[in-house]
Amino acid sequence: MKTFLWGTATAAYQIEGGATEDGRTPSIWDTFSHTPGKVLGGDTGDVACDHYHRSSDDVRLMAKIGVGGYRFSTSWSRVQPTGSGPVNQRGLDFYKRLIDDLRAQSIEPFLTLNHWDLPQELEDAGGWPARETAYRFAEYAKLMHDALGDRVRFWTTHNEPWCAAFLGYGSGEHAPGRTDGAAALAAAHHLNLGHGLAVQALAGANVGISLNLHAFLPQTDADADAVRRLDAVGNRIWLGPLFQGAYPEDLLSDTASLTDWSFVQPGDLEIIHQPIGFMGVNYYTRALVANGDEPQFPSAWPGSESVRWLNRGLPATDMGWEIDPDGLAQLLRDVHKVAGDLPLYITENGAAYPEFVDDQDRIAYLEAHIRVCERAVTDGIPLKGYFVWSLMDNFEWAWGYSKRFGIVHVDYESQARTPKASAHWYSDVIRNGGLGD
Ligand code: NOJ
Repeated sequence: MKTFLWGTATAAYQIEGGATEDGRTPSIWDTFSHTPGKVLGGDTGDVACDHYHRSSDDVRLMAKIGVGGYRFSTSWSRVQPTGSGPVNQRGLDFYKRLIDDLRAQSIEPFLTLNHWDLPQELEDAGGWPARETAYRFAEYAKLMHDALGDRVRFWTTHNEPWCAAFLGYGSGEHAPGRTDGAAALAAAHHLNLGHGLAVQALAGANVGISLNLHAFLPQTDADADAVRRLDAVGNRIWLGPLFQGAYPEDLLSDTASLTDWSFVQPGDLEIIHQPIGFMGVNYYTRALVANGDEPQFPSAWPGSESVRWLNRGLPATDMGWEIDPDGLAQLLRDVHKVAGDLPLYITENGAAYPEFVDDQDRIAYLEAHIRVCERAVTDGIPLKGYFVWSLMDNFEWAWGYSKRFGIVHVDYESQARTPKASAHWYSDVIRNGGLGD
């Protein structure tokens, strides 16, 4: 595991704060978090971890931990406030400084262009369900690459487009909070199209995408159809266009009562089906599911509204997500089958736990999942790196600051950072080039 990249991950809206500074305009998450009842405790990302003013210290902290890579996202409305047109130099300068600081510490920057914070102005014009948003996204991608292409070697178009489409426009649990299955499916297609257009716009760059691929287990053999449906709208809706140049037939028929998919225009699938440089996999848990007949609305799973989600009674993290490292092994095998020799990265894996610093539960979680990664490498899967979610406690979307994923504790009053036991443990893993035997 000597050349393996060990990193940590964050995202702009979850850590930066500085929400109105230097020309930044609201994103859908600013609007959503300021809407009463949408985020637990009324928390917002206005200040978050104040990373906008503390990025140099945070990079020093990462250097101390010894990470080799840092996955972060850029806030679109900070660098291109209206979602189109000229760049906002002051916003861009923040990322230039961050990247220069990282490089000075030999930390590889992994830049994600879309970690859900769509400029509000583009949502007002229709958001991801509108085709134009895909073109705007490619323009933003190009503008970022023109400015930073000389200092960033790893580019990611979207983070977890499933969440952006289906939590954002389907169940409404995430910004912009719409509950319209047809709009959610159109959003998914336009996210795919935006990915393809951005890959074209960044011609020659090393570009990938991070997907939260879902691992499922059927309750009994008779529940295979529940798995098939969820796999279609959770996984193959992305993997099909990316690797086969087509949406799965069963997805189209499962969702036929919602949409005729006429938003897919001739030539779109060729644009999406382009070679990419790597694939990012985000993994947290695996789900036990069964067929059911009581549709759940509003749904984050268009076409699978009637599936039943079951509890297995396994130990779970503070999110209530059951701990199941074998699900990661299953996913890696499945992705490798579809993606062939394409380099894979675990772009997120981690656990929420409430402990202040002695987070032995988190260490156990990380260790079990890293063990799976090491075994995958031994088995010949081209897994090239692993990023812990997250470097530090941060704004956990609809859960606000109530869930803590960091290997570094953040005191939101003083903004003090305190490495948890897991940060010290991770330092050792990195120094030793893995867990060893
Ligand atoms: C998925 C997302 O990419 C990230 O933003 C989030 O905080 C973690 N997983 C944990 O839910």
